Amino acid sequence: MSLTPQWLDELRNRVSLSGVIGRSIRVQKAGREFKACCPFHNEKTPSFTINDEKGFYHCFGCGAHGDVIRWMTDHQGLPFIEAVKELAAQAGMDMPEMDRQAAQRAQAAKSLHDVMQAAQDFFVASLKAPEAERARAYLASRGFPERIAREFGFGYAPDSRTALKEALGQFPESMLIEAGLQIVVEGKTPYDRFRGRLMLPIADQRGRIIAFGGRILAAEKTDAPKYLNSPDTPLFDKGRTLYNLHRAAPAARSSARIVVVEGYMDVVALAAAGIAEAVAPLGTALTEHQIERLWRVTECPTLCFDGDAAGQRAAMKAVTRALPLLRPGHSLRIVTLPDGMDPDDVVKKRGREAMLDLLGTARSLVDVLWEGERDASPLTTPEDKAGLKARLLAHCDTIAHPDIKTLYRRELLDRFGELAFARRERPTFTPRQGGTFQPRQGRGPWKPAPPPLPAATASRLSAKVGSGDALLAAVLAGLVVHPAALARHGEALARIHPAQAGMAALLDALLAFAESGAPLESTALRPILLERQLEVPSADDYDGLRFGFLSETSATALDELAEAIELIVDLPAVESALARATERLENDFSEDSFAEQQRLLQRRLALLARLGQMGRTRASL
Ligand code: UTP
Ligand code: MN
Repeated sequence: MSLTPQWLDELRNRVSLSGVIGRSIRVQKAGREFKACCPFHNEKTPSFTINDEKGFYHCFGCGAHGDVIRWMTDHQGLPFIEAVKELAAQAGMDMPEMDRQAAQRAQAAKSLHDVMQAAQDFFVASLKAPEAERARAYLASRGFPERIAREFGFGYAPDSRTALKEALGQFPESMLIEAGLQIVVEGKTPYDRFRGRLMLPIADQRGRIIAFGGRILAAEKTDAPKYLNSPDTPLFDKGRTLYNLHRAAPAARSSARIVVVEGYMDVVALAAAGIAEAVAPLGTALTEHQIERLWRVTECPTLCFDGDAAGQRAAMKAVTRALPLLRPGHSLRIVTLPDGMDPDDVVKKRGREAMLDLLGTARSLVDVLWEGERDASPLTTPEDKAGLKARLLAHCDTIAHPDIKTLYRRELLDRFGELAFARRERPTFTPRQGGTFQPRQGRGPWKPAPPPLPAATASRLSAKVGSGDALLAAVLAGLVVHPAALARHGEALARIHPAQAGMAALLDALLAFAESGAPLESTALRPILLERQLEVPSADDYDGLRFGFLSETSATALDELAEAIELIVDLPAVESALARATERLENDFSEDSFAEQQRLLQRRLALLARLGQMGRTRASL
């Protein structure tokens, strides 16, 4: 069949666009055009205009745009050729001559539709027969109201190898085979595929039956699969079909939502609970075609998955399928159901409201992607973390749309950075007092280094603070004198892990005190330390070093304390970096390694000099 552009133009000219649209939604004359509330997005004031002269509609709100054929495909959900046929019938135009093969195909397809409908009629009639008692009992046990059982067309396939063949005697056997209703095994007479099963018809978007699903009735364990489905046939392409789409799509237009569940029975149970906009794939993971189909109904379909591991794997699979297809405004939302429950269980055990609440908890695609990868394996070593980053970026690479790709990269790398480079803090340090606590960014400007100390003094100091103990003891004593400093340095202090138990306990107590909300004053702190029998290092314990910040009256105490805390954090880091650099220098004397070792040496001397100055301040008081 060939549809020439001329023929299609003629078709467009003969039908009235506003007339066609006016059959589905309310349109109002506005000058030479028509206006309506846009059926492609939610709105209260009309921004959807229809221009019969130009033959197109346009929405100034959401950008929906097209001609009459587009209306039939996008709004009515018809495949292109069906849209054309229906419009041609309205316009009284004959479809162009088909070539012989296409004509035969169309004829065959028409008859296959007839076969399927005849089979459906037979299954429905069989459900009323005496021998179908077990099927009726099973259906009753599922608790679907009569109205729903009828609407969904439940039937029964008698437990016989020939019942259907006999009932459909008017069709040649070859057609029953082509329709997937009979099975051919070499050397045997073809026999009925569906036997002793509760039958569910599967329809295309126009409601024509194209396949069946048959559920086993036996509650006892058997080897037979729970569901037997039609094979792919000229009518039925499993990967392009969604169960119940022909009923769900119109319902979705009013609820602005379409829900994808895993099983047939979930769809039926949701419909019974008044949630008519549910569809299911046919026992496989959602395909690209199915995602595109869903997007023609709503921009953000909601997918429901089981809370167990298999359900979460299925969710990730749907996400990775969708990534390459993403385009502006189109995405997926994902609901994780309570562990071990499917939507059928949720509406039956907890009711419709509970299901609606769950639908409200849907996570965005980017959240599911992030959480799925983050939780996929442990993140203990740097290699683990690098692996996570590589996986995230690999996902981003599959996104075709450039803007969306960039935005996903940025979002995922931000989240990765927060996770991978999180500082190892005591997690809950949040002083309530003073209200000025802010995490420190960097270490502030480094003051010019004072002249280096004589080597002997430096080494004596270094021995004192090498383990950090002497300086730490002084700092802790200083904090007892000036608890206000706790508010400013909580974060840095929380990162220090004193080796000595007494100092560790004292530091913990100080941090807890800062968090308690008590006024940060020595008079409030001391009784607590006394009660817990925590020993404060004495002010004279530092072997000749006297720190200015230990004086209650020093005006510069808080600044010096701040510097001392920085030293505690910096000095050990510099010491160990220096040790590594020195080792490298010994193994491989190069200009670079020498330069690096010297840089670290200078930095260490500068820190020690600063320490020495602090220590001497007291002496000069
Ligand atoms: P479920 O077992 O979750 O289906 O399988 P269900 O609809 O909830 O079944 P009930 O409630 O026990 O009756 C999900 C879907 O996987 C396909 C079917 O499409 C089913 O709806 N399936 C499952 C098969 O195709 N074959 C099977 O043997 C099992
Ligand atoms: Mn189920």
